[in-house]
Amino acid sequence: MENWKEIYKEKIVTADEAVKYIQSGNRVIFAHACGEAQIITEAMLRNKEEYEKVEIVHLVPMGTGEYAQEENQKYFYHNSFFGGGSTRKALNGTYGDFTPSFFFEIPKLFKKDGKLPVDVAIIQVSSPDEHGYCSYGISCDYTKGAAENAKIVIAQVNKYMPRTLGDSFIHLSEMDYIVAYDEPILQLVPPKIGEIEQKIGEYCASLIQDGDTLQLGIGAIPDAVLTFLKDKRHLGIHSEMISDGVVDLILAGVIDNSKKTIHKNKCVVSFLMGSPKLYDFVNNNPAVELYPVDYVNHPMIIAKNDNMISINSALQVDLMGQVNAESIGAKQFSGTGGQVDFVRGASMSKGGKSIIAMPSTAAKGRISKIVMNLDLGSTVTTSRNDVDYVVTEYGIASLKGKTLRERAKALIAIAHPDFRESLMKQALEKFQILN
Ligand code: COA
Repeated sequence: MENWKEIYKEKIVTADEAVKYIQSGNRVIFAHACGEAQIITEAMLRNKEEYEKVEIVHLVPMGTGEYAQEENQKYFYHNSFFGGGSTRKALNGTYGDFTPSFFFEIPKLFKKDGKLPVDVAIIQVSSPDEHGYCSYGISCDYTKGAAENAKIVIAQVNKYMPRTLGDSFIHLSEMDYIVAYDEPILQLVPPKIGEIEQKIGEYCASLIQDGDTLQLGIGAIPDAVLTFLKDKRHLGIHSEMISDGVVDLILAGVIDNSKKTIHKNKCVVSFLMGSPKLYDFVNNNPAVELYPVDYVNHPMIIAKNDNMISINSALQVDLMGQVNAESIGAKQFSGTGGQVDFVRGASMSKGGKSIIAMPSTAAKGRISKIVMNLDLGSTVTTSRNDVDYVVTEYGIASLKGKTLRERAKALIAIAHPDFRESLMKQALEKFQILN
């Protein structure tokens, strides 16, 4: 459209003006994770007296989460797909709730005829290009689908948002109100990698061959895995997200995507969380393409990558191989995210493997994460039918094709030595023999 500069000017409002278009009871979708439009969230909080029970929906929370605090319950209600430190109390309390969903199915929920139709999408995008298109930048995932189906789109246009390529654009004509405000994008603080994570990283890396395509979750373990891949060659990335660690491996020539069976020579991702190092790297960079999560995380698309390796973490694994990655007992801790999307996609991929990697203990060694039974009320994120490799700092348990007894034995062998005897005793009570 030739006249986009006019459209742009006409739509510009202040953040305080923009949030006046949100009505009490509206369902408002926030751009995902580090993509949250901070200036607009702040304006919603400043103007909260205007609202009653505005429903705020998003997946990983990376902002302040102030709307999800008890003192704001009159104004806001948080409907979460993934808990974090700032929102956990709300979604386990009376002023919030949790919606279980596979990540790849969330955009479908947001469709006009879907189960969670959207009143307002609040997005954050890059500066417009010469044709009036802005990039969703670091958050394409469900954010694009939410904007495409919302009754109202409020967009923060921020020069710090990188212009990422792929299917990651929105035209200014598709936005209703524009808040032009430049501020640094939210960042992910790099996790601390300790000895345990290093050992786990080393075991995971031993399951990865030259030419494999990787999905890496968030956190210390995926980052530790990356540090052990320096001697590999021709690795590829098809992952819901990537962080800073991947940049180093691309620059070192370890990740070149040259053996990928789809999107050859490209890293394919759906969102990004990291530091400006990552955000600068992806800016206008054809080596990294962002696509909506209903594409990237669709198990059938993931499976089109031969030799697909997924690496995710967990809170507990029971002796049958049921994986709880999202609750501590009955309390929702995080969410399903893309774990099952990738476990299933990797399982269907020719030469694929899915890995659940976690330290053997929690709470400074007081609790075993490998347990006879999941805690009462726990969620099964990845089922025993889906699980493949489980890795701790004590080794690798390969579970596919193994009987219940064989699984119990393999998992006890990678439990922390302090808990093996008691696990063996419990397993023997159930199975009588463990040969
Ligand atoms: N019982 C009680 N507490 C436990 C526990 C258990 N079995 N396992 C872990 N914890 C505690 C830890 O001690 C820690 O507490 P702290 O914050 O007070 O130190 C906390 O729970 C988080 O554990 P940690 O091992 O540090 O988690 P993490 O940051 O590595 O995240 C998951 C692990 C499983 C929560 C996270 O990967 C997740 O949410 N996954 C689900 C979604 C997914 O896999 N998506 C795909 C990739 S994005």
